[in-house]
Amino acid sequence: MFVTSNAHKFAEAQKILRLYKIQLEHLLYAYEEIRADDIKQIAIESAKTLFRKIKKPLVVEDSGLFILSLNGFPGVYSAWVQKKLGNNGILKLLSGTKNRGAYFKSCIAYIDSKNQKVFCGEVHGIISKRKKGNNGFDYDPIFIPNNIQLNSKYLTFAESETLKNSISHRFNAFTELAKWYSVYIR
Ligand code: IMP
Repeated sequence: MFVTSNAHKFAEAQKILRLYKIQLEHLLYAYEEIRADDIKQIAIESAKTLFRKIKKPLVVEDSGLFILSLNGFPGVYSAWVQKKLGNNGILKLLSGTKNRGAYFKSCIAYIDSKNQKVFCGEVHGIISKRKKGNNGFDYDPIFIPNNIQLNSKYLTFAESETLKNSISHRFNAFTELAKWYSVYIR
C-alpha cells in the first residue's frame, strides 16, 4: 500500500512495481510530515507514524528538487515552494545564473510488523531556461535530465513521460525497493 495524496506519484510507482509483478494499492491520505532537513528521515518517521495507525505493510515517499546554486533549495520545502512560487518563481530566481545544475531525490520507506527499510534514488540534470512539456507534475516542465537526448534534443521530464519513468529518482528508488521486496518479502 502506497500512502500518498499525490496521484502522479502513485501512477509512476505502480508502473515501476508492475515490472516486478508487485501489486501496489493506493491509500489516498494526506498526513502531517515531521520537519527535518533530510528527506530520508522524513520518509522513515512518516512510515512509522502511519504504520501505528494503519497496521498494514505500507510505503511512503518523501522527495524534492535540490538546486545547486541555491544551496539545495527548495529541497524539503519543494511542495510548499511549488505552491507559493511555482516554476515561474524558480526560473526568476535562477535568471542570470550560470550554474543551473539540480537533482531530484526520492526516499521510500517500507514498513511491516517485522521490517523497516528505506531506499533512495536520485536523478541529476539542469533547470531549463523556460517551461516545456505538458506531462508529469510540478517541477517536471523545468527539469532536464543529464546525458539523455531524443532525436538530438534535450527534453524536460514533462516532454517525455517514458523517459522520466525509466530514469527518474522515483524509478531508481522504487526499483531498489522492488529488488529487495522480491527477495526478502515475497
Ligand atoms: P513530498 O514528497 O510530498 O514532500 O513532495 C515533494 C515535492 O517535490 C512534490 O510535491 C513536488 O513539488 C516535488 N517533486 C518530487 N518529485 C517530483 C517529480 O517527479 N516531478 C516534479 N516534482 C517533483
